[in-house]
Amino acid sequence: MFVSFSEFRFTLNQFSRIGLFTCLLLLISACTHISAQQVKLSAPIKLTVGEGFVNPIGYYEQVPRFSWQIAADANSQLQQAYQIQVASSLARLANADADLWDSQKQLSSATSWIKYQGKALSSRQQIFWRVRIWDEQAQISKWSEAASIELGLLANEDWQGQWIRHPETGEMQAFDHKNKQFKNKLYRPQYLTTQFIATNKTSDKKSTAEIKQARLYITAKGVFNAYINGQKVSEDVMPPGWTPYLQRIETLTYDVTALLNEGENVLAATVAEGWYTGRILWPVPREVKPSALLAQLEIQYTDGSRQTVVTDRNWQVTVNGPIRAAGNYDGETYDANYEMPGWNKLGFNHDESWKPVISEALEPQVVLAPKRHHASAVKLTLPAISIVDVANPEPGVVVFDMGQNMLGVPELNIPVLANQKVKIRFAEALQKNTFYTKNMRSAIATDYYTPAQSGVINYVPTFTFHGYRFVEISGFDQSKTPDLSWLKGRVLHSNFDVNANFKSSHAKLNKLAENVVWGLRGNFLDIPTDCPQRDERLGWTGDAQVFAAPSMYMADVYGFWAAWLQTVREEQADDGRIPNFIPTKESKHGRGSSSGWGDAAVIIPWELYLLTGDAQILKENYDMMQKWLAFHQEKVKDDLSTMGGFADWLQPHPKAKEGSQARRGDTSIELISTAYYAHSLDYIAKAAQVLGRDADAASYTASFNRAKVAFRKAYYDEQTKVIGAASQTSYLLPLAFGLFDGVDVTNAQQHLLATIASADHHLRTGFLGTPLLAPVLQDMGRSDVMYDLLFKETYPSWFYSINNGATTTWERWNSYSLKDGFSKASMNSLNHYAYGAVAKWFYEGILGIKSAGVGFNEINIEPQFNQRLTQASGSYKTPQGEVAVEWSIAQGQLDMQVTIPKNTLANFILPQVQAGTLIINGESVSNQKDAIDKGLTKNMLIKQAPGAYRITGRISL
Ligand code: BGC
Repeated sequence: MFVSFSEFRFTLNQFSRIGLFTCLLLLISACTHISAQQVKLSAPIKLTVGEGFVNPIGYYEQVPRFSWQIAADANSQLQQAYQIQVASSLARLANADADLWDSQKQLSSATSWIKYQGKALSSRQQIFWRVRIWDEQAQISKWSEAASIELGLLANEDWQGQWIRHPETGEMQAFDHKNKQFKNKLYRPQYLTTQFIATNKTSDKKSTAEIKQARLYITAKGVFNAYINGQKVSEDVMPPGWTPYLQRIETLTYDVTALLNEGENVLAATVAEGWYTGRILWPVPREVKPSALLAQLEIQYTDGSRQTVVTDRNWQVTVNGPIRAAGNYDGETYDANYEMPGWNKLGFNHDESWKPVISEALEPQVVLAPKRHHASAVKLTLPAISIVDVANPEPGVVVFDMGQNMLGVPELNIPVLANQKVKIRFAEALQKNTFYTKNMRSAIATDYYTPAQSGVINYVPTFTFHGYRFVEISGFDQSKTPDLSWLKGRVLHSNFDVNANFKSSHAKLNKLAENVVWGLRGNFLDIPTDCPQRDERLGWTGDAQVFAAPSMYMADVYGFWAAWLQTVREEQADDGRIPNFIPTKESKHGRGSSSGWGDAAVIIPWELYLLTGDAQILKENYDMMQKWLAFHQEKVKDDLSTMGGFADWLQPHPKAKEGSQARRGDTSIELISTAYYAHSLDYIAKAAQVLGRDADAASYTASFNRAKVAFRKAYYDEQTKVIGAASQTSYLLPLAFGLFDGVDVTNAQQHLLATIASADHHLRTGFLGTPLLAPVLQDMGRSDVMYDLLFKETYPSWFYSINNGATTTWERWNSYSLKDGFSKASMNSLNHYAYGAVAKWFYEGILGIKSAGVGFNEINIEPQFNQRLTQASGSYKTPQGEVAVEWSIAQGQLDMQVTIPKNTLANFILPQVQAGTLIINGESVSNQKDAIDKGLTKNMLIKQAPGAYRITGRISL
């Protein structure tokens, strides 16, 4: 998996030969008289566990994986060995008393995903760990700072409480939009509290012990907020998120030590329907159960004693609080007349609306497991940028422009009159200057607020979310003039860092890069979704499949994807089918499978593995991958697939004018399905090899080869021309998936170029074809054509959306125009991430940062220069550290700065630089004798060491 130390040695030899490492070697020779143990190099940094967690509490993994980095300014370049120590206390660790595990010195260059191999860990256990390394000269580093892990409750048996809820649950009838009548059940949000004395005294024992530590373990069937003595325990939004609730519900762990009083306390929560009870897509008849809460507060005292407070019959509940209704699609209704000041604090008088809860035992078949990625949170707050004059406004209505299409909730600070209901609506764009909500379909997406008093209110909806740029408010105090300070937009997504930083000399390209990131922010609310505004917001597998790898370049989303893949595994049917959107089971909508969509089960794990080097993602998902292939194989005749699907979804200018065929584009579904069948076989064969399953690998490779032959024969003529409609996607698929050899490759490349030329250098690709354009064109040495497509201003193109005011990526190439508004098609979300997959090429292509092995242990730096850009910069956070590229071209002179992280080797591939002009860190490369042996005259430098590089040369574009 990682480059071996002997290869590193070899590399150092190379460095000495080409003279780049003279300084390092001088330093090394100066140090040789000092024994290895005496030299203290700087300690490893950035200690993380699992998919990037820093000192987690409530951690999910019983066998943690450890990762670290070598600091960019460390003297060491490469790691030769490591040692990890794990102890049950900080004091022990400091004394080198690794009572849980001491890996001892391990000869390995791996700095990531090292599995714990010590004593079995159990729920709640706190462990402390540290690491040190030996570098390429066998010099030993200092120990890292200690890091910690605290496990969550790992088994259902750890939970002592029961699910609790209101006895009547305040059932209402939900509105059936189609027939304009109330139909489905709906439940009012619940307010639950219990009072308890924090003490470890028993009647026969006196104690003066104090609270040492307290943890709240908590979850809901639905979504919740928790409070202790009136204070919110966290900033998480709508936890626990969305999993297949009938199989697994994620639990949260909060450190609540600072919120507790010695003596009397109140533990409280609000619970609303969220994804558990709320409808999915349009309402269909289904057995919906009311929401419920499960909590367990564990207090530890300084004398070692413990106290546990759980959800049980001692709790009280009301559905008569101010949040009258809340749903993801339809919005929240808040009535301040029902506020209950102090309801979650000591001294509150419960009126007759409060009832003792009813409780239900935990279901053994529903696994309670610590949340394995971060819950959602408010990640940004945006100001409103203008008040818009809309055509034909209703009286008393004001429309705000947030300047950005987003997923989130509004924060209102508006003047109101007592009992005059404020209504808040949301729109993604204006339709010829009118407020347009038709593209939300049946999602009502409206919040209401009824003030109890006149004055200025501050209101942020709690248990809903909207996809919007424009906000319409009515019902405010009409004597006041609307002001921008009335409204802010709180942007929500799962709590990960967004790292995207691609910049170039071209304003529209930069805007596109930004829009893609907003498409990411807008569709990563606990699960990957297709859109955040209409009555879907679903984990469509096809969309996820094309955007998973690109999203990794822009944000720390490995944990997010690994978590969703667990849900995909749980949703896979017994016959191996992967539903089209996930989670899906409880929705009671169809559970069909499509090629290119269900293949997410294979493609996402493999591509995550390539980016991270973490074999665990393959191990976890291998059975699912196998089952999916077996399911597909059932639909394969003579090595050709008969699986149906959404095909090249939403390809522009389809031959069919209307209906579902038009949406599926021109490329035949049989061709697409067989290509994906082969592609998944190829990936699973590689995965099998990594996992040491050689027999599987051989058999999948054999199937792949058969599918390849059959594919070539069935769909292409002798000149490798596709039989039937000559779509761009019909050439992109075999070229990207390696389904052609020899002359077929060059033929197909020519045909592809011809289809692009005949479309006046426009793309003609949908969800499946579009992400393949850049890698295929770059591979055939025609990045110039990719630049043509990328810089096209007219429909269909990425810049067309920018020319029409886009602030996110759209579902269709023509979802909207400034002149005509929304296109007539029924599906026209302005916040769909699939076409944003192109952003991967900004990093991999324009900047040229591409993993040359697995997990970026070796990196190719191969920027695709083009006359349209004079400058580009950006970076990517690899498991080893950040790789950064910045280049500019002025008067034919390239100036490039590159930073290669430690423990990584880099290959510089710069064929566009004129031979003999390349200078690296002040030295002419062509002067080196070895340059010729190593092919450096082609401007390729291989296996270069970590560090900073300045590269210049003449360039002709
Ligand atoms: C979704 C798409 C999805 C497609 C498949 C649409 O409604 O928004 O993103 O992949 O359906 O049919």
